[in-house]
Amino acid sequence: MGMTDSRIVAVSSGKGGVGKTNCVANLALFYASLNKKVLILDADLGLSNIDVLFGIAPKYNLKHVLFGEKRIRDIIVTGPLGIMIFPASSGVRELTELNERQRLRLLAELDNFDLPFDIFLIDTGAGISDNVLFFCSAAQETVVVVTPEPTSIADAYALVKVLSRDFGEKHFRILVNTARSEKEAFDTFRKLAIVADKFLNLSIDYLGYLPYDQHVKDAIIAQKGFIAMYPNSTFSKRLASVGKKLLDNPLNDVKGNIQFFLKKALKIR
Ligand SMILES: Nc1ncnc2c1ncn2[C@@H]1O[C@H](COP(=O)(O)OP(=O)(O)OP(=O)(O)O)[C@@H](O)[C@H]1O
Ligand SMILES: [Mg+2]
Repeated sequence: MGMTDSRIVAVSSGKGGVGKTNCVANLALFYASLNKKVLILDADLGLSNIDVLFGIAPKYNLKHVLFGEKRIRDIIVTGPLGIMIFPASSGVRELTELNERQRLRLLAELDNFDLPFDIFLIDTGAGISDNVLFFCSAAQETVVVVTPEPTSIADAYALVKVLSRDFGEKHFRILVNTARSEKEAFDTFRKLAIVADKFLNLSIDYLGYLPYDQHVKDAIIAQKGFIAMYPNSTFSKRLASVGKKLLDNPLNDVKGNIQFFLKKALKIR
């Protein structure tokens, strides 16, 4: 497969609806605008919407791969700026928990996939379901999206706790979304960092923050991608800084290629 220096990053959260999909879509646009080859796996297998955000309607999705009807290269769709997307299926209850056979099939399919990429973003579902834990621990590193609400912080802590305690994950980056100020964002991170340090003996990383911006909804309705529609907004500037930091500072020194992902995934399945 011969990929060098590719990155595999899971974007996850404890609580749902905190902005993961919006972050993934805009990070993907940012990297693509830097001429990086971007791959998105929509791993929110129960309720997916990365394709909706980009205004594309894929004919086939992971469900067809998992049921053996399609190969992974048949389901890949190309979004804006050449972003490659593995679409999930929406509202298929039986996929919210993949069984062993389905995971093996997915891994075998990924093993056959040989398109080169620079960064592979996995939009996981929320919470601590087996699927979420599976994708987070198979990735090189996990970005945990959190909002300033106490419930979101508590749920982010729960996710970090399970991933560190049960899966040996040590590398976490925190992205604070919908912050009303830089101070509020950092305070949010600090609350999480303090409990992670005290109770899990983990040092977590501050990746940065994205401000609350009422136009995020407009961009979603327009299916355009926020940073493309509002390139001069604070949101877009913060997103570029987050994207750059994530790209330039890998938390793991291991090679992030699909083989690595597969090996790790096979160990944890
Ligand atoms: N920075 C922001 N400013 C304003 N609104 C935002 C921001 N980020 C996300 N939102 C809004 O929050 C809602 C949830 O966003 P999104 O779908 O990306 O969350 P999610 O974490 O992927 O949700 P789920 O857990 O259901 O997959 C959307 O309606 C979006 O418009
Ligand atoms: Mg989502």
